[in-house]
Order: sequence, then structure tokens, then C-alpha cells
Amino acid sequence: MDNQKNLSDEMYLKKEDRSKLLGYQNKVIWFTGLSGSGKTTLAKALEKKLHEKGILSYVLDGDNIRKGLNRDLGFTSEEREENIRRIREITKLFHDTGIFVITSFISPFKEDRERAKEVIGNDFIEVYLNCSLEECQNRDKKGLYKKAEEGGIDNFTGISQKYEKPENPSIVIDTGKTSVEESVNLILDYLKLGHNPKT
Ligand code: ADX
Repeated sequence: MDNQKNLSDEMYLKKEDRSKLLGYQNKVIWFTGLSGSGKTTLAKALEKKLHEKGILSYVLDGDNIRKGLNRDLGFTSEEREENIRRIREITKLFHDTGIFVITSFISPFKEDRERAKEVIGNDFIEVYLNCSLEECQNRDKKGLYKKAEEGGIDNFTGISQKYEKPENPSIVIDTGKTSVEESVNLILDYLKLGHNPKT
């Protein structure tokens, strides 16, 4: 029986085998923060920097998840929970491939982020983009805050629905005061990947 178990263990590749093939230990960079706090900008900039370093990564964001797999979901608390549940499961699969996964979702509820952390394990890095509601409202790139304040959007995070700040994130970036480049460097430093392009 034991022999059989050992044989089948040897037959299957593990994440460690894929990591060995790629030559690095992959992580999940889980951004969280209000709409307009800079999640997608930073996610894309980080992806590009990792790419330049020869590290394969992939960004999961509203464009490729909410418009596709999760297009049946809106923004009630229950739907957000389901949104993050599916994202965490996809993230887990991508993570298992050995590549870096960067997620860019408000993920407003602490419990959902905690669950993601549990499912993904030690490689989960929570990055809180600390940007005040006021600053996000001032930026209002998509005009959504104005619309929400005028009552045109229900359940808008920070306006008519809560955002629960992480209590113990791995990294906090004050995106009101930190440039995109500096922010990416903070993450690279945390990952011990060095932020000098030559390293
Ligand atoms: S999450 O809360 O479920 O994680 P997600 O990051 O996928 O949210 O989507 C947030 C984006 O959807 C916002 O950046 C904004 O462009 C858009 N959006 C549309 N309606 C809402 C809403 N009610 N609250 C927040 N964002 C909304």
C-alpha cells in the first residue's frame, strides 16, 4: 500500500517542481484598497518590472475577471464575497503553476481576504494601498464617486458600503504620497528581488 502511495507521489509534478523549472519562488501579491487607490496602475507596473527581470507574472483584475467569469456578479455584499471567492480559487490555481499572481480588486471585506490568505498560504502577500476616501474622490478618474454621491450607484465602496482596512498587511503603501516607481520598488524590496534593474 505504502509502495503504491510513493509511486503515485512520484508520478505527479508539484508546485516545487515547477518553481525549480522557472528558477524562482513565486508569490501572490494581493492588492486591496478603495476604488481609485491605484491598484491596477501598480499591478501593471509591477507585472512589467517582474517581466523585465525574467519573472513570469499575471494580473487578475476587473477587466479579465469581472467582464468574463464573474460577469454575473454585481456589488452587493454577497456578490462581492462570491467575486473574491472565485478570484481566490483562480489565484490558487495560477499560484500552483509557479508564476507570480497579482490581484487587483477592492476586496473590501477582511474575512474574504483572510480566507484567501488561508487558502494560498505563506506565499500570500497582502498589499494595502492606503489612500484616503477624499483623495480617491478627488482623483475620481472614472467619475464613479460623483455618480455614487448623487445616488446613481448603489453599494459604492466608501460611500454606501464599507471598506474594512487590513489590520496586519504585509506592505502598506500610501499612494497619495508615493510615486508608482517608488511603490513598485517597495514591493520588489519586500520580495528581496532588488529594485535596481541590473540586479
Ligand atoms: S470587489 O469589491 O468585488 O473587490 P472589484 O475590485 O471587483 O470590487 O470591482 C471594483 C471596480 O468596479 C471599481 O474600481 C469600479 O470601477 C467598479 N464599480 C462599479 N460599481 C461599484 C460599486 N458599487 N462599488 C465599488 N466599485 C464599483
